[in-house]
Amino acid sequence: METLAIRAKEEKVAVIRSVIRGVGAHLPARVLTNAELAEMVDTSDDWIVERSGIRQRHIAAEGETTADLGAAAARQALIRSGIDPLDIDLIIVATATPDRTFPSTAVRIQNMLGITKGAAFDVQAVCSGFVYGMVCADNFLKAGQSRRALVIGSETFSRILDWEDRSTCVLFGDGAGAVVLEAQPQHGDRTDRGIIASRLRSDGRFEDLLYVDGGPSSTKTVGHLRMNGREVFRHAIQKISGVIEETLLTAGYAVDEIDLFVPHQANKRILDGIAKKLDVPADRIVITLDKHGNTSAASIPLALNHAFEQHKVSEGKLVLLEAMGGGFTWGALLARW
Ligand code: UT7
Repeated sequence: METLAIRAKEEKVAVIRSVIRGVGAHLPARVLTNAELAEMVDTSDDWIVERSGIRQRHIAAEGETTADLGAAAARQALIRSGIDPLDIDLIIVATATPDRTFPSTAVRIQNMLGITKGAAFDVQAVCSGFVYGMVCADNFLKAGQSRRALVIGSETFSRILDWEDRSTCVLFGDGAGAVVLEAQPQHGDRTDRGIIASRLRSDGRFEDLLYVDGGPSSTKTVGHLRMNGREVFRHAIQKISGVIEETLLTAGYAVDEIDLFVPHQANKRILDGIAKKLDVPADRIVITLDKHGNTSAASIPLALNHAFEQHKVSEGKLVLLEAMGGGFTWGALLARW
């Protein structure tokens, strides 16, 4: 392996950063609208749109798994990055809905992509999973342990929903997104591309506010998602705003310097609350939840992919990712495209 440390020394560069080389996404074909849901449970399009901003979600077909969705997103990200899959030496999949209890969905995707070298593993931080996965990959790349990473967020939440519980089944959907990260020498100043700063948090005291009531070790079943939505909502704005502020402080950037906010897509009212608290203009926030609901770990890379396809991200743009999910877990990450 070419050693970045030697290259960095020769080029008199200060730091190694994880630069985003490509992004991709994949959604299942089947769209489930609010109107269809209103025929299944006691709800309405008006209630769902007013309380969450969600209008529709995608649902995986019978037999279409988290690995299938993730591999499709990864292939698109790889093509856009111009990087050969065989040059990938790290695959991290953020998911709470793995194909199997083990082995990891990451090794399944690794096999689907024809990759046999490097390391592949899953990260479980539910809706914060993609931020956790990115931070993890960034640390592998900065440490010189890996050179090019695929970070994938992929979920089939439709499989763990209680389709008779109107308070949760209207909120979630299936999908996947992926990015390719590459370790590159940078100058260590404000022109640097790549991941600049990040902050991860968790607090297990809140585990009963958002969880799945099953698992191999407890019930020997898969279980269903359970959520005290009102309580999660109460914590979300405070915790997410706080971690964004800490990340920006670490990086030495102000809110108004950020070109694009790419948040986890749980609820439009949460995003509005954060925007108001931090004074972020609405046109700098990527919103995709109307189209695919809350896709947990997949929602940030899906939103990032949407921004890319809308030409909202390009080289030099400062992008801020943030999420909060079950655990609670939460986190933020700042990167220059
Ligand atoms: O990604 C992980 C993070 N998750 C989140 O961020 C979710 C955070 N929470 C939320 O997004 C919101 O709390 C919800 C969208 C889940 C709910 O909105 P809310 O404004 O907090 O509503 P609520 O739970 O306080 O419920 C209000 C009413 C209740 O009826 P009563 O008790 O006032 O008579 C619910 O039974 O709305 C009722 N309700 C519904 N009505 C129609 C709950 N679900 C539905 C529904 N359709 N689907």
